[in-house]
Amino acid sequence: MIEFQDVTKSFDDEVVLKNISFKVQRGETLIILGESGSGKSTVLKLILGLIKPDSGKIIIDGSDITDMSERELVSIRRNIGMVFQEGALFDSLPVRDNVGYRLNEEGTLEEMEIDRDVEKHLGFVGLEEAIDKMPVELSGGMKRRVGIARALVGSPEVILYDEPTAGLDPITKRTIVELMIKLRDMEGVTSIFVTHDLHAASIIATEYAASAEDGNIAYKSEGGAKILSSINFIMLMDGKICFYGGYRELNASEEPYVKSFVN
Ligand SMILES: Nc1ncnc2c1ncn2[C@@H]1O[C@H](COP(=O)(O)OP(=O)(O)OP(=O)(O)O)[C@@H](O)[C@H]1O
Ligand SMILES: [Mg+2]
Repeated sequence: MIEFQDVTKSFDDEVVLKNISFKVQRGETLIILGESGSGKSTVLKLILGLIKPDSGKIIIDGSDITDMSERELVSIRRNIGMVFQEGALFDSLPVRDNVGYRLNEEGTLEEMEIDRDVEKHLGFVGLEEAIDKMPVELSGGMKRRVGIARALVGSPEVILYDEPTAGLDPITKRTIVELMIKLRDMEGVTSIFVTHDLHAASIIATEYAASAEDGNIAYKSEGGAKILSSINFIMLMDGKICFYGGYRELNASEEPYVKSFVN
């Protein structure tokens, strides 16, 4: 679904990514770890085509987007939802228009259809009642959930999360992580999750969502080997991938840098 082939990216004189290669298969979750400034957000911006690599190739769902024009990128981006660091809502727009922003811009759907899609995704994040509120009226956690609803509109197959749990209390963080697990296991989305938050990452790597008998969704950590084997970690250091592997390998790594990060 997403592939980097030998991607290099510099800003001014600083090489941020040096010949980076990785693949994310359909339905897989890739968790990107690394210090502040290691290039995590840069990877997401390259996937969206917001910036271009200096060399190498980026393939999204079989299309080489490396040299695509803005116009060609529109259809690629339609299939990718992005949850920005801090939520990044438009303060002057109510929740309804923030969530429906992309569909309103595209202008291909009737207003009623857009409203229906917006309501559906606000329901998914448990915020139906906030539809007519302004962002200033929302708590930090609610803003993040609105940011997730906005990424879901149009039902993209890929979702990119940039630090979706940073600065949240443990309970709100748990709510966000459960939404991410629900999207992975109930909707089959492919995702990339950029984070410093190893606790959130470990929940994503060890729990899965299943329908309970009462019709609710239960989060379990036993017997989900098949789902959980589709979660991989990358750690960035000095422009390189210094670790690639599953949750178990991450915790068992003898590499000093990885060990200091994990501990
Ligand atoms: N548009 C830009 N112009 C110049 N330098 C940039 C630009 N974008 C990123 N950089 C630089 O590239 C490096 C990587 O930035 P990036 O935002 O990808 O880091 P990050 O891993 O997401 O960090 P954080 O965890 O703090 O969000 C940093 O040194 C940053 O200053
Ligand atoms: Mg960042």
